[in-house]
Amino acid sequence: MHIQISPSILSADFGKLREEVDSVIAAGADRIHFDVMDGHFVPNISFGAPVLKWVDSKGLPIDAHLMISEPWKYYDDFVKAGATTLIVHAEACDDLRKRLEQIKEAGALPGVCLKPGTPVSAIADVLDIVDQVLVMTVEPGFSGQKFMADMLSKVKELREMGYEGHISIDGGVNLETAEQCREAGGDILAAASAIFKADDRKTAVEGLRG
Ligand code: DX5
Ligand code: ZN
Repeated sequence: MHIQISPSILSADFGKLREEVDSVIAAGADRIHFDVMDGHFVPNISFGAPVLKWVDSKGLPIDAHLMISEPWKYYDDFVKAGATTLIVHAEACDDLRKRLEQIKEAGALPGVCLKPGTPVSAIADVLDIVDQVLVMTVEPGFSGQKFMADMLSKVKELREMGYEGHISIDGGVNLETAEQCREAGGDILAAASAIFKADDRKTAVEGLRG
């Protein structure tokens, strides 16, 4: 399986965001991960679509991880700002299938995300229409938290169910935990602190890829 590394800009220096993104692209990133938080669905506020607009991903896919309530209200904004994939939380959607279909209608690829307490069964009915499942290995809201290894059973479960789309693993992914993520069947590793706070970002990206 081809492993993709997706740096999350949550640990970047927002005062020089364009250079920060350029730096992780130069380090070998395969895509860029934007953690959008509203202070309501999660207990932290980060940024919204206007911030994406100012970043040039040089053609790499952009994952907008929407940790927000009623995410569908903002789909058009994120697509216009350049997002390739919109990842919504199953827990934030009233009618999950409809909300994922609306992502396609807005012109992006649909992704669905599970908080640690949400089982795979919550998304079993929509696996046929998603491009990506994101399995959280921390409680969403902050970077720099400890990796929850027991969440990897969800990744295995998805693969055993025959799901062949992308599986992202997000939260506490670092040089110590990345191997378990790859072995479990994850093919996109999202990491904030392990890349942006590394002494050498290229070594970090290569180490995560394995
Ligand atoms: C957490 C975010 C993660 C986070 C990862 O709510 O979804 O993407 O930024 O940060 P690290 O890699 O530092 O755990
Ligand atoms: Zn994220």
